[in-house]
Amino acid sequence: MISASEGTSGISVRVPAKINLELRVGPLRHDGYHDLATVFHAVDLVDHITVRPAQDWRITVEGTDAHLVPTDDSNLALAAAKMLAGTHAQQAYPVHVHICKQIPVAGGMAGGSADAAGALVACDALWGLGLGLGVDGLHEYAARLGSDVNFALVGGTAIGSGRGENVVPALTAGQYEWVVVQAEGGLSTPAVFRELDRLREDRPVDAPQPTAEMLGALRAGDIDSLAACLNNDLEEPAFSLRPELAEVRDAGLMLGAAGGLVSGSGPTIVFLARDRHAANDLAAALVNSGAATRVHTATGPVPGAQVVEWEDRP
Ligand code: C5P
Repeated sequence: MISASEGTSGISVRVPAKINLELRVGPLRHDGYHDLATVFHAVDLVDHITVRPAQDWRITVEGTDAHLVPTDDSNLALAAAKMLAGTHAQQAYPVHVHICKQIPVAGGMAGGSADAAGALVACDALWGLGLGLGVDGLHEYAARLGSDVNFALVGGTAIGSGRGENVVPALTAGQYEWVVVQAEGGLSTPAVFRELDRLREDRPVDAPQPTAEMLGALRAGDIDSLAACLNNDLEEPAFSLRPELAEVRDAGLMLGAAGGLVSGSGPTIVFLARDRHAANDLAAALVNSGAATRVHTATGPVPGAQVVEWEDRP
């Protein structure tokens, strides 16, 4: 591996959080994963990942919940950078990865996966690898890092299959306004999948398919139809593990949200609002009623991981 002079240049990538508008979960597979049929939707709650040449591999994190993010090799962004370096030893060199976090940590919005996607795009650009998103590009690394990393590369609204790593853009119209309620504490994704398996032990589980109603609603850009088909198989197990989350979902619906559901494996809950004004009103009402303390508004769809800044210091 070559060495580079510390801090000479850096690249920043912006990468979005995701919501699952629909998440259908198939039976447990032999490899411990579940087949999914999901509709991913990227929203403008974003993390920024900056990579700069360094003497040794290093990771730092800033943001409200920075203390909850691991700063060792278990950090998916650092793992992503090292994985890419491992197969491009001629061009790669150690980097300092800095994460500026806005995406809720362990919230079911794929923040860790977003950071991994951001690190892949940033290191690809910094080291001049030219891998991009085409065949044999960064998607191969993304799939090895986690089930949601491929979508974070692509963004927009997309249909996910396999364990989530196969991603195809969906035909959509319009933009949607969301209210994101961050619950205290996280929920472990494997624990929520395990609880789902336990809850439906005696029920037959079909191969998961996205519904025609959801795809039709997205093509039409129709809020009422979309609200009616928001659906997440992980909601029941998330409520089973954290019953107070159901109260938050019910409060948002009572306060006028067009629809609402648990995001991914939770505990974050997202509400669909009719427009930006309604989203702001709902966010305020959720806080004023005491139903929520940490609330964001967000718009989707937005693009996946994108370079936003090149630094070049002499
Ligand atoms: O792929 P990722 O590391 O994000 O997955 C975290 C965990 O979530 C897996 O180890 C597995 O327990 C569960 N999972 C699953 N089926 C999926 C995706 C994730 O069971 N399709």
